[in-house]
Amino acid sequence: MRRGKWGAVAARILVLWLAALPAWAEYGDVILNRRAEAEGMPPVIFPHWFHRIRFRCKVCHFELGFEMRAGSNDVTMQEIIDGKFCGMCHNDDIAWGTENCFLCHSGKPGLKSGIRGGHSTKGPGIW
Ligand code: HEC
Ligand code: HEC
Ligand code: HEC
Repeated sequence: MRRGKWGAVAARILVLWLAALPAWAEYGDVILNRRAEAEGMPPVIFPHWFHRIRFRCKVCHFELGFEMRAGSNDVTMQEIIDGKFCGMCHNDDIAWGTENCFLCHSGKPGLKSGIRGGHSTKGPGIW
């Protein structure tokens, strides 16, 4: 099948556009481990891509107050149980609740806070 001239032009523009996207387009999985391991729990894996295709950026980065820099948010378990941050949704209503400790605390020991993976989520338990 032959693609028309305009199809080819559009494809080239798409490629250029993708190449020009800044590095922050890395959405992979975010590891949160400022407190968890020090307090005897495995690091938290937050599948960013999984969430960001379901919710608008501003829900988390504005309304919930998550800063857009991996490792920059100081989140405590008590705040989550009180309905802040992850707990805004993980409350047995919008999504499964905080009693499912190891769905969030699924990281391997020793992981540092930061982004892992490329443009898509590998999900809990991989890192
Ligand atoms: C919806 C996701 C989620 C669930 C479910 C969850 N946690 Fe957490 N937890 C977090 C996040 C995020 C942090 C902050 C991680 C960090 O920066 O170290 C955290 C931190 C912690 C900490 C560190 C100390 C503190 O008080 O903040 C402990 C201990 C902890 N969680 C225990 C638990 C236990 C026990 C359960 C199950 C009863 C649980 N968590 C369920 C996301 C979750
Ligand atoms: C469900 C909540 C949620 C949604 C929706 C969401 N994010 Fe995030 N985002 C987070 C969390 C949590 C972190 C990690 C913060 C940390 O590690 O302290 C993060 C981290 C980031 C980072 C930092 C990456 C780095 O390398 O430091 C960027 C950039 C970002 N998000 C952009 C976006 C954009 C753009 C969208 C919408 C297209 C979006 N986020 C949607 C929760 C969300
Ligand atoms: C804006 C709402 C929202 C926020 C905030 C949010 N989540 Fe979620 N999360 C969801 C929904 C909805 C699902 C899908 C639940 C389901 O499949 O039943 C989900 C699923 C997940 C999954 C499972 C992914 C999979 O592959 O099945 C993990 C792990 C998770 N969330 C961790 C977190 C952590 C850690 C935080 C905080 C850093 C967080 N979430 C914040 C809404 C949210």
